[in-house]
Amino acid sequence: MSRLAILGGKPARTTPFPTWPRHTERDKKRLLEVLESGNWGGFPFPNQLAREFAERFADAHGARYGCTVVNGTVAIQVALQAAGIKFGDEVIVPAFTWDGTAVAVLHAGGVPVFADVDPDTYCLDVDAARRAITPRTKAILPVHLAMRFAAMDCMKELAKQHGLAVVEDCAHAHGGRFLGRGAGSYGDLGAFSFQTSKLMTAGEGGIVITSRLDCHEMTQSLVNCGRASESDEFGKRPVGGNYRITEFQAAVLLGQLEQLEELTERRQRGAALMTSLLSGIGGVRALPAQAGLTREAIYHYVFQYRPPDRGVSRDLFAAALEAEGIPCDGRFYEPVYRSDLFQANAADFPQLRYLREEEIDYRRVSCTVSERAAYEESVWLPHFLLLGDEEDVRQVAEAVEKVMKHRHELAASDEELAGVKSMSRSERPRLEKKNY
Ligand SMILES: Cc1ncc(COP(=O)(O)O)c(C=O)c1O
Repeated sequence: MSRLAILGGKPARTTPFPTWPRHTERDKKRLLEVLESGNWGGFPFPNQLAREFAERFADAHGARYGCTVVNGTVAIQVALQAAGIKFGDEVIVPAFTWDGTAVAVLHAGGVPVFADVDPDTYCLDVDAARRAITPRTKAILPVHLAMRFAAMDCMKELAKQHGLAVVEDCAHAHGGRFLGRGAGSYGDLGAFSFQTSKLMTAGEGGIVITSRLDCHEMTQSLVNCGRASESDEFGKRPVGGNYRITEFQAAVLLGQLEQLEELTERRQRGAALMTSLLSGIGGVRALPAQAGLTREAIYHYVFQYRPPDRGVSRDLFAAALEAEGIPCDGRFYEPVYRSDLFQANAADFPQLRYLREEEIDYRRVSCTVSERAAYEESVWLPHFLLLGDEEDVRQVAEAVEKVMKHRHELAASDEELAGVKSMSRSERPRLEKKNY
């Protein structure tokens, strides 16, 4: 078991891990029922299963209302609009996240302002967020990244001091709780994604949850072509689009919600074991336990590559680990301001120049912790590695140990071997057939 697989040795793991997504017989039955009912679409709005799912999902996360939408990006966009974001308003977002977090701000007419993340959670750092506030700031958009939460108590306090809205990007946090409160229920609104790789999925989809009736009504109207919301107490008539989901998606999501509790616990158990095993391996560091995190939602198990020497890059480490049969990633996200999927300029988004002497140039932004996390340090293991048994987790840790122990054998071939792992986001999907 000594020669590294990337150099031609036998991989540490040769059998497949549990697959994702998964479904049950009940899902098949529900889907068939929708098919045969002929009631397929999102209209009348909300349709039967979409309504049932939205209510149950919101309730499971401690919010009063839920409104399903086509995907997570649109969920963030309409949540921001419902929170009152208008053309030119600044929204503080963490630099280390999926590009869609910031793209949603642009599509809502806002200006994303990047702030750095905390080195132990990789979530928006409250002091960095404070420093990013200007007279134009209207909202904070923390992301609960991978397996940690933004410190929502501090975020809320900061928002209160400055009269800002808080919209939580919970694309990674289904079922998670911070200080006893469900993801998305701490802020004014919470936005979730149900894209294939997520902890609950219908292939695509999203939901906005809130306990504020004014926000819920606005969300419903925005999602349903501007029509009146169900309760219509606030009587607003925004210009909306058709962002409704189908009953097929809602049927699948009901099944996903039924499994969430059990799978969340299973992932937590696996993660606890992983953390204890990694603690015995030199040169890697599990993320420290987070105060206030009542229940982990583990979208990816993230650990840090911190070798005592600089011979082998994180990208090469991740490539070698993957060759051992462990699905993983190093450059999962780039700081959004450096991502080639985020080429935002004022010609396309005039709010970046609105009432400013100079247009915002994102290439000048620098967030040290985000850059270190993205390019040197973070290693991402997808959640389905934790859905099997203890032996799966042990084999992942053994593979990490094997690569760490033998990494010096890789030093000479860094550039060549790490090729795919260090490519930009837009190039990679052509080369990799992963769904995460
Ligand atoms: C942190 C984060 N925010 C937003 C999104 C956008 O979700 P979607 O892909 O459903 O539009 C994603 C998912 O890709 C995400 O990971």
